[in-house]
Amino acid sequence: MLEDTSFAIHPGKKQVMDEQAYIDIGRLQSVEQKHDYFLFHCEKGSVTIAFYRDDIVRITMQTSNQTTTYPSRAVVVKPNHVNLTYSETDDKVKLNSKKLTIEAKKSPFRIKIVDCNNNLLVEEGKYGMGLKENGEVICFKEMDENNHFYGFGEKTGFLDKRGERYQMWNSDVYAPHNPETDPLYESIPYFMTLRDGLAHGIFFDNSYRTTFDMKSLQDQYSFKAEGGQLDYYVFAGPTPKDVVEQYSYLTGRMPIPPKWSLGYHQSRYSYETEAEVRELVKMFIEKEIPVDAIYLDIHYMDEYRVFTFDKDRFPNPKKLIDDLIELGIRIVPIVDPGVKKDPEYSIYKEGILANHFCKYIEGNHYFGEVWPGISAFPDFTDEKVRSWWGDKHKFYSDLGIEGIWNDMNEPAVFNETKTMDIDVIHRNDGSPDTHRALHNIYGLMMGQATYDGMKSLLNGKRPFLLTRAGYSGVQRYASVWTGDNRSFWEHLQMSLPMCMNLGLSGIPFTGPDVGGFAHDTNAELLTRWTQVGAFMPYFRNHSAIGTVYQEPWQFGEKYEQIMKKYIQLRYKWMPQLYSLFYIASSQGLPVMRPLMMEFPFDVKTYNLNDQFMIGDNVVIAPIMNPGITDRAVYLPEGDWVDYETNQTYHGSQTHLIHANLDQLPIFIKNGTAITHGKVVSSLKEKQEELILHVYTHDKDSNYIHTFYEDDGETFSYENQEYLYLMFEIINTSKYVEINLIKHTGNYPLPSNKMKLDLHNLQEKSVFVNKKKIENLTEGVFISLVD
Ligand code: GLC
Repeated sequence: MLEDTSFAIHPGKKQVMDEQAYIDIGRLQSVEQKHDYFLFHCEKGSVTIAFYRDDIVRITMQTSNQTTTYPSRAVVVKPNHVNLTYSETDDKVKLNSKKLTIEAKKSPFRIKIVDCNNNLLVEEGKYGMGLKENGEVICFKEMDENNHFYGFGEKTGFLDKRGERYQMWNSDVYAPHNPETDPLYESIPYFMTLRDGLAHGIFFDNSYRTTFDMKSLQDQYSFKAEGGQLDYYVFAGPTPKDVVEQYSYLTGRMPIPPKWSLGYHQSRYSYETEAEVRELVKMFIEKEIPVDAIYLDIHYMDEYRVFTFDKDRFPNPKKLIDDLIELGIRIVPIVDPGVKKDPEYSIYKEGILANHFCKYIEGNHYFGEVWPGISAFPDFTDEKVRSWWGDKHKFYSDLGIEGIWNDMNEPAVFNETKTMDIDVIHRNDGSPDTHRALHNIYGLMMGQATYDGMKSLLNGKRPFLLTRAGYSGVQRYASVWTGDNRSFWEHLQMSLPMCMNLGLSGIPFTGPDVGGFAHDTNAELLTRWTQVGAFMPYFRNHSAIGTVYQEPWQFGEKYEQIMKKYIQLRYKWMPQLYSLFYIASSQGLPVMRPLMMEFPFDVKTYNLNDQFMIGDNVVIAPIMNPGITDRAVYLPEGDWVDYETNQTYHGSQTHLIHANLDQLPIFIKNGTAITHGKVVSSLKEKQEELILHVYTHDKDSNYIHTFYEDDGETFSYENQEYLYLMFEIINTSKYVEINLIKHTGNYPLPSNKMKLDLHNLQEKSVFVNKKKIENLTEGVFISLVD
C-alpha cells in the first residue's frame, strides 16, 4: 500500500481542514416546543434538544441531505419527564433543568452548556454544528489548555488524551499496537473532559466511522461522522464518577458476572487436543495453582466450523467438560462469526436456507475469507438471526459450557480493508442500512445474540461472554480483552491506561492477554505481568501459535512460585473484587480506576499511567520494566499503608519504593478497609470465612466499606438472595469503631460473622457495633446479624 511508504508525505498532497469545509447550521429562525423536546429551526437544518434526566441532555441535528436514523443500539433508556424553564432575549434562548442550563446564541446558532453552579461544560464559538456536502456531520467545541480528556474506549497511548485524534472503526489489528495505532477493535464514541477538577462527558451516538479530534486546532476540538446524524448527549458530571454513572445509566451496565469468570484463566492459541487440555489441568492441580477456566481456541473445531468439535482432537468433549467441572474448571470455547461455506455443514445450510447471512442489496451473499476459508456472516442486526444464533449455542450448553469467547467480530476478514464490504446491506430490524453505517455495531449485536441465547439456555445460571469487538453498551453482554498485544514490556505498560480508559468508558470488565499474545514472553516479563494481571478486572494468560508456552510453570521453580503467590492473592482478594464488581453492575463504576477518578482535583493524577486503583482505597504501583526493583510511586492525599510491610507512607508526595521480583507494591488508604477470603483452588469452593482488614490511624476519619455476596452463579440475587453489607469505619486518635450500618438481602453467610484484622492499632480502643471490646487477644469479630 502506497500509504505505508514515503508517498504518505508527498509534497503534492493537500489537506482541506474540517473547519474550512463544513456548512454551518446558520441562524436560529424559530423555536418550537414539543411534548418532551424543543426544536430549534435554523437556516440549514434544525436542532432537537431533549432531556433524559436533569443531568443528561441529548442534542440532535437534522438536515435535509441526511440519511434517516433509527433507534439506537447503545441507549437503553427513554427520556424522563424533566421540568424545564424556557426564556428568550433578543440574542439568546435559555433552557434550564435543575442541573443544566443550555444557552443558545441565535446568530449564528451556537450552544453553550453550564451546570447549576454556572461552571462551563461545553461552548461553541467560532465554529458550531454543521455538515459537509459529502454527508459528513461535525460538531466543534471550544477547548482550552486546562481540558484533559479520557474515555474513548480501547485506545493505545497515555491516559490523558489531550492533543490526540482518534477514529472509531472496529478493526482487527494484529500488529503493531503502538501509541499511534488507531483504530482498534472497539468503538466507544464517548469521552469525559476534566477541567479544574470538574468533569463532564459527551457521547456521540453514531455507528459510522467517527473521528474525535483534539489535535488539529489549538482552541477547538471536534467530533464528526462519515454519515448518519449528529446525535450526541452531554453528561453534567460534576465528578468523574458522576459522568460514568450518567453514561452507564444511558447505555446500560454490566450484569453481575459469574464468580468463576473473575478467577485465573489459562488460554493458548491453541491447546489443540483433549489430551493436552487434560495434561494442562493436571499441572495446575499438581502445582496447586488456582484456575477457573481453560480456553479452547480455533483448533477444537472441525476445520474451524463453529458449533462443531474435531472428532480426532477432541473425541469426547462431554466427558472432558464434565470431568473438568468436577474439578471446578470451566471450558470456554472460541466462537467466531464466519460460517464456513460448505453446503454439507448444517449451520451453513440452515443459515442459507433461512436467509440468515449478510447480502448485497441485489440479493447475492457476501463471502469473505477467515479461518475456515470462504465464509458467510450472520446478519446479527436482525432479531430473527440473533435468536437463531443464540439458540445454536445449545450445542455448547448441552455439553456443560457456560462461557463463550467471541473473536473476529469486527467482523475481521482477510482482505485489504480488513472487513466486510461497506455496501453490504444489513436488515437492521426493519430499518435496512449499509455496512458502512452499521459496521461498528456488528460485534455488539453478535454479543447480544450470544449473551441472550446463552442466558436462555443455562437454566438460571449466569453466562460469561468475552468479546473482542464492540460498541457503546457492550458492557451489558460481555467482558472485553484488548486483542493481539505482544510480549513486550511496553505492552504491559500500555495495558494500564488502556484498561483504565475502558473503565471510564463504562466497560468495567477488561484486561489484556497476560504475558503478551504474539512474540515470545520471558520469565521476568511474565512474572511482572502476572502480578499486574492479578489485580486487573479480567485475568487471562493467552499466547499465540508458534510462541513459547507461557503457563506459570514454564520458566522454572523460582518464577512459578512468584506467579503462584499472585494468582493465589487474586483469590484472597476475591471478596473485595466481587464487591467492586457489584458496584460496577449497580452504578457503572469501574473496578480498576485511574487515580484521577478518586482525586480529580489533584493534577498529579491527571496523566498517571503506571499506577491504578482498585476501588476507592487501594493503589497498585507495579514494576513494568526489566531489571528494575525500585520505582517512584505517587500517593495522593491521605496516609497509605504498604500491604506487605504495613509501613505507612504520607500522601501528596512521591516515594521511591523497592520491590523485588516477588513483590508488587500495593497501598491501602489509612482509615479504610478491605475484605479477604481464603485461597481456594477454584471458585467452585466457597470462601465463607472472611476477614475484614481495617487500616486504623490516629486521624479523624469516616469510611464506608461495602461488601456484597451471593451464590456467584445464578440470577437468584434478583429475588433477594444476596447479602449487601455496609460497614462504617470511624477513626480517631483514641479509638476505632466498626459498625455494621446496613444489611440487606437474604443470602446467608453460614458463620454470620467476620473476623476483624486491625492494622496499626497501637493503644487505641476498639468498638464493634458500638460495644467496646475489652479483650483483643482472642480475636475480634463482627456479627453480621442485626
Ligand atoms: C485472533 C485473536 C486471538 C486468537 C486468534 C486465533 O488473533 O485475537 O486471541 O487466539 O485469533 O483464534
